[in-house]
Amino acid sequence: MSIRKITTLALAGLMSVGIVAAFAQDAFVAPTTPEEAVEARQATMKENGATLRTAAQLSGAEAVAAMQTLLDNYTNIPALFPEDSAVGDSKALPVIWENWEEFTAIVESGRSAAEAGLAAAEAGDAAAYGEAVKAIGATCGQCHQQFRAAQS
Ligand code: HEC
Repeated sequence: MSIRKITTLALAGLMSVGIVAAFAQDAFVAPTTPEEAVEARQATMKENGATLRTAAQLSGAEAVAAMQTLLDNYTNIPALFPEDSAVGDSKALPVIWENWEEFTAIVESGRSAAEAGLAAAEAGDAAAYGEAVKAIGATCGQCHQQFRAAQS
């Protein structure tokens, strides 16, 4: 095979990886109406709860999957809170949009903890994984305390 042909094949391979990656990211569709946003974020938050509940006991591929779920969810959180979408049965407090920087700073700290947790799970580093799960968990409470109405 000529070098040129190999290069072309390699490029085609790289491009298809790029397309697959773009596709995977596109799987998340940001909500457009406040009602949709409430529904989507409550579902995402339920998944956060279910994932975090068992995360500490996991290892191997299950731990990797849990961290990937939380990483994806944290990545999506800002888009799940379009401005003034505290409608219907939402427990989101309007102060979210007044203190957006603080809100997204908490998201970012959870997102980087999930990234660290994912790397630790992939490396089989149980200690670092445990620390990351704790750090993620701290951000749930921190955000709820400031930005979610108390359960009635
Ligand atoms: C940056 C802020 C923020 C972070 C981080 C966050 N939450 Fe939430 N969470 C909220 C807000 C705001 C609501 C209320 C959403 C609504 O009702 O519109 C909520 C709602 C929930 C709910 C109730 C969902 C329902 O059925 O109505 C659960 C469960 C939950 N969160 C779990 C978690 C867990 C577990 C984590 C951490 C892994 C987490 N959340 C991280 C802000 C956050």
